[in-house]
Amino acid sequence: MQVIIRESREQAISLTAALLADQLRRKPNSVLGLATGRTMEGLYAMLAAMHRDEGLDFSLAVTFNLDEYVGLAPEHKNSYRYYMNRHLFAKVNIDMRNTHLPDGMAPDPEAEGSRYESLIEDVGGIDVQLLSIGESGHIGFNEPLSAMFSRTRMKALTPKTFEQNAPLFDSPEEMPRFAITMGVGTILEAGQCLLLVTGANKAGVLAKAVEGPVTSMISATALQLHPDCTVIVDADAASRLEQQEYYRWIFDHDPQWAPYR
Ligand code: GLP
Repeated sequence: MQVIIRESREQAISLTAALLADQLRRKPNSVLGLATGRTMEGLYAMLAAMHRDEGLDFSLAVTFNLDEYVGLAPEHKNSYRYYMNRHLFAKVNIDMRNTHLPDGMAPDPEAEGSRYESLIEDVGGIDVQLLSIGESGHIGFNEPLSAMFSRTRMKALTPKTFEQNAPLFDSPEEMPRFAITMGVGTILEAGQCLLLVTGANKAGVLAKAVEGPVTSMISATALQLHPDCTVIVDADAASRLEQQEYYRWIFDHDPQWAPYR
């Protein structure tokens, strides 16, 4: 795992966008694992601008989102399908047939989990998985006690997640209590993981995720086991990390980061 600290939220987002853009230029038919949430809105706006201004090409890209709420149809404005269409897919030249999310309306969530896993397998797996972290420590909707080897399945959401996401709904009661999410095991199979975290409200959980012991109580700690995981954070989110000085030194001196400095 590498941790990269950028001063501002904008800098953290623009570094993440630059890494994704480079991935697409290197491999136009990349399979991208995508995430939702407030953190990602700025990132998708930046990718959309790169498409508009620099011709960043999504025409051959294939995408798989981490999760979807159970019971929300694609047209529901709080569904993650709706979110993705609005923030990214409608603004770039992606082929909609290559965009995938779990089907929150599937009558049999277990079968839907297997179908989703097969789709990922059929395209040869995910090249880069984008992630953020929820205040409960989840990646995707892998709430506490999600097995490290879990696969795409239905998961009950914690009160903390409810508290975090319900304000996004017109009325809090509308927020589903279940979601279908890629498993921790599914996420760990991606070729590379990029975790983007910003804001002081994530500082505590980020410190546990990055520097704490690996535990299924905080699914994000599983990323410590991934052979190629980069964590990109702003100074606010980094404020409770013990090794900040070391992480800052790496970005400033490791030749790998020279093109992005
Ligand atoms: C939801 C998603 C998570 C994401 C989280 C972050 O809960 N299921 O994948 O990490 O939102 O939310 P935000 O960026 O709004 O803090």
